[in-house]
Amino acid sequence: MTDLPPIGFFDSGIGGLSVWRAVARLLPHIPTVYVADSAYCPYGDRPPAEVVERSVAVSRFLLRHHCAPIVVACNTASAAALKTLRQMFDVPFVGMEPAVKPAAQASKTGHIGVLATAGTVQGELFQNTTRRYANGVQVHVQVGTGLVEQIEAGRLDHPDTLNLLNRYLLPMLTAGADQIVLGCTHYPLLAPVIRQMVGPQVTLVDPADAVARQVQRVRSSLFPQEQTGSPAAPENRYRFFTTGSNRQIAFLNQEWLPDGMAGINFLPAVIN
Ligand code: DGL
Repeated sequence: MTDLPPIGFFDSGIGGLSVWRAVARLLPHIPTVYVADSAYCPYGDRPPAEVVERSVAVSRFLLRHHCAPIVVACNTASAAALKTLRQMFDVPFVGMEPAVKPAAQASKTGHIGVLATAGTVQGELFQNTTRRYANGVQVHVQVGTGLVEQIEAGRLDHPDTLNLLNRYLLPMLTAGADQIVLGCTHYPLLAPVIRQMVGPQVTLVDPADAVARQVQRVRSSLFPQEQTGSPAAPENRYRFFTTGSNRQIAFLNQEWLPDGMAGINFLPAVIN
């Protein structure tokens, strides 16, 4: 690793890589440590208290790696745990929430769809954001049961995945939604297949770039003197851990990886 403190990321699995990718593009010189809490994936159907417990344990692990800030690259964990994490630890946390506000502002039909986990849509954060920002736009909410498991297994365009997507997207499309909010960080991995299903007149809204800009702001307020310099080789810059079985992610194609990086190798981590 370089000697700059890394930015920390965690998610229940590989979904948070959609946020990590946006940050790595924006801040290519900064090292990162990413934790996939795969042993507890999916988070979406777990009771919030359990998601809080996991988020605290994983954050402690990232703090032992001197990470600052920590990106909760998971809507479900942000909904359940962000408040607690901010109360418990001094380091800044950057969280996620479904991008209802920009979608509602951009909608021409007055209908938007939100695809997210049960934990996210039942959370207070989502309820408040929707109440505050939907502004007369009708929000069609759908829980994406089963999608995270398909993505973790690399079945991105498997017929079962397409069937689930079809079932979840059809009602919002029939209602006239012209914006679909990807309210779980796993779902951008399905963006190519979703795009094919919904056609060019529907926009997929992924908050990853906005979150990356927020990470950049927080990072430069923490380390105003930080030199950008030239990036170290990716294998020295980026570390990936999983609480599940040690694995390489073979199905993420090159567009997911920074230049010079051939693949992602997750090292096993025991986090209790
Ligand atoms: N990627 C996560 C999210 O953004 C978690 C999905 C899950 O584990 O259910 O909500």
